[in-house]
Amino acid sequence: MKINQSNIKKAIKYLNKNYCIAVPTETVYGLAGNAYSSTAVNRIFRLKKRPKFNPLIVHYLRLSDLKKDCVLNNDFNKLYKKFCPGPLTFVLKLKKNSKISKLVTNHKSTLAVRFPKHIILKKLLSKINYPLAAPSANISSKLSSVEAKDVKEEFGNKISYILDGGKSKIGIESTIVSLVSKPKILRLGGLDTLKIKNTLRKKIKIIINPSKLTVPGQSKLHYSPGIPVRMSITRPYKNEAYILIKKRKINSKNYFYISKNKNLNIAAKNLYSCLRKVKNKGYKSIAIEKIPNKGLGRSINDRLKRASQF
Ligand code: TXA
Ligand code: MG
Repeated sequence: MKINQSNIKKAIKYLNKNYCIAVPTETVYGLAGNAYSSTAVNRIFRLKKRPKFNPLIVHYLRLSDLKKDCVLNNDFNKLYKKFCPGPLTFVLKLKKNSKISKLVTNHKSTLAVRFPKHIILKKLLSKINYPLAAPSANISSKLSSVEAKDVKEEFGNKISYILDGGKSKIGIESTIVSLVSKPKILRLGGLDTLKIKNTLRKKIKIIINPSKLTVPGQSKLHYSPGIPVRMSITRPYKNEAYILIKKRKINSKNYFYISKNKNLNIAAKNLYSCLRKVKNKGYKSIAIEKIPNKGLGRSINDRLKRASQF
């Protein structure tokens, strides 16, 4: 993707005036605003129809800037070195003198932070002197956006500006690890948790379905395309869309491929666009063939399970 300087300038103009805009990231598009400004952050919550108790992720370019806002530790350093920039979000202790708007964290003492890898967003971040709070660019509980046109579909002309960065390379939200005390995975996502475990060389709890919800992304109805989704299906109903990860010999017009040779990274990248497409074609339900529960397949299955609670 080529960097268009004049688009970045436009984006910055809106951000400097405390408007929120859509920005591309390698995971999914974000609905971004100045994380130091309560006006901007308030606009994000309103536009997304997000409950105020659900905190936002803040996006940084430089480690030196993060140090002003959060307390870092050894586990963080190891993971940062290996995986940043990339699809990994850290929950860290917030510093008392941080300038992050209290609305970002809902007045809590921890902050979720991420170093995005998309070159256009990195360029943008290099030209502003505040980090960006950005949840996924979708209406709360709906499908995340992986292209500029998805954002348009979600928000219409309610959004001031969409910075187009092409299709998101990873296509599924970041993995969230809490490092406030013992490392805990709070959300499966674009980074395989096995890689985190191998880097930290210790046991890591995966708490993605707690009895008490700590993160709304953990809630059952989430990532929903708005129609029923059935998983591990070998025979779809007659009028049902059938999503597949391996090419069939015989084709049918209700077959939709997210990968042709069981490549789970490619499947993750195509998942949300495919769910969106199927819904827009007017299908009333979706069947998906069994996805192996390994690597990004685990993250895909997590999203499908939540989407299937419809
Ligand atoms: O890939 C991503 O992470 C994308 C891109 C735009 O960066 N962002 C994203 O944001 O998925 P969002 O807001 O849709 O999901 C962030 C999740 C939410 O479930 C939220 O509850 C959780 O992160 N979260 C935020 N702050 C937290 C905190 N202090 N402790 C625990 N969870 C937190
Ligand atoms: Mg989201």
